[in-house]
Amino acid sequence: MKEAEFTIIENKEVSPGTYMMTMSGDTSAITAPGQFINIKLDGHYLRRPMSICDYDEEGLMIIYRVVGEGTEDMSKMTTGDKFNALTGLGNGFDLSDIPEDAVLVGGGAGAMPMYALAKAMLGAPTIIIGFTSAEDMFFFDEFRNLGIHVIATTLDGSFGVKGTVVDGMKTIAEKLPYAVACGPDPMIKAVWENALDGQFDLSARMACGFGACMGCTIETASGPARVCKEGPIFKHNEIIW
Ligand code: FES
Repeated sequence: MKEAEFTIIENKEVSPGTYMMTMSGDTSAITAPGQFINIKLDGHYLRRPMSICDYDEEGLMIIYRVVGEGTEDMSKMTTGDKFNALTGLGNGFDLSDIPEDAVLVGGGAGAMPMYALAKAMLGAPTIIIGFTSAEDMFFFDEFRNLGIHVIATTLDGSFGVKGTVVDGMKTIAEKLPYAVACGPDPMIKAVWENALDGQFDLSARMACGFGACMGCTIETASGPARVCKEGPIFKHNEIIW
């Protein structure tokens, strides 16, 4: 973990209510896709945990939805604004455990940690990304430009497979041998139920974000685990719903 100052390069709306923020700063503490940063916002006591969508030595990118006062304030920040963040938080994906034929499954903005993961993986995985409607879609071409097979699902059928990501999964197999899932917990649970093995990015309300307050503790097959420290990525056989 490292505390660092970041400077916003760009902060723009990419679909209604969803923003992409790119920033420069010290990313040396980030060791794996799937880790997150915890952002300190002026006027807010608690930091905001944000999944990292992509990163390099110079900076990183996040994609977030406006869901409350904190993210509303974030959406108004602009080029040159600075903030403090803790980086390199969480365990990240275990790349050594992911087979080449793994299917990545993500829901909307929650799917974005998959971008850095897809770039880091060998081979050309398939990714299934679920959206509500065609107008909510973003980052479809960015994933396609990685040379991977992208299956989009929309609840209203306005683009791609009609239905949820599970409907997209069923176009490949009744149960996927190995899935890697990011998104809201109800979606993660549905993917977990329809996969035999895999890695799953769980969410929890977080206070400290680095393992000190125990506030994000969940029960797992190997005992209590802090989502921010032992997670947020958990293996299929560790999860108890
Ligand atoms: Fe404090 Fe996880 S948020 S231990």
